[in-house]
Amino acid sequence: MTSGTLSKEEQEKLFSLALTARETSYSPYSKFRVGAALMATDGTLFKGCNVENASYGAAICAERTAFVKAVSEGYLKFHALAVSTDQDDFISPCGICRQFISEFVSKDMPVFFLNKHGEHREYKFEQLLPFAFDYDTSKEYLQK
Ligand code: THU
Repeated sequence: MTSGTLSKEEQEKLFSLALTARETSYSPYSKFRVGAALMATDGTLFKGCNVENASYGAAICAERTAFVKAVSEGYLKFHALAVSTDQDDFISPCGICRQFISEFVSKDMPVFFLNKHGEHREYKFEQLLPFAFDYDTSKEYLQK
């Protein structure tokens, strides 16, 4: 399974999980629910939501939650990411998330944005973070 291709079935599973992931969003301060679904290269799926805090800066975004869950379970190679919200419009990962994600994904990994109507937009990761900062150390470690 290579990055850049997703079967219709895989895409449906990924989208469905990203929409479900919003349901456990802990967002009492912003009331802005975000869900993320992440597919590892072997097809394993992880979901994440945003988790806020009374100390606002301590919040974590849905995308990083999904990556932290996956990496802490020993997954380091990823096939696709989907991000959902309750908004009419699409949202895309914040700058911190883009940098965080860039550690683990290939430039051509597909990233999907989903709105509340279930519509989606598709990008390649490199479109979100061109000229990403990277050390050779991570390339060797992850064999990017
Ligand atoms: N948020 C995410 O979870 N992902 C994004 O891509 C953008 C923002 C969260 C952070 C905060 O809990 C809320 O959305 C409002 O910024």
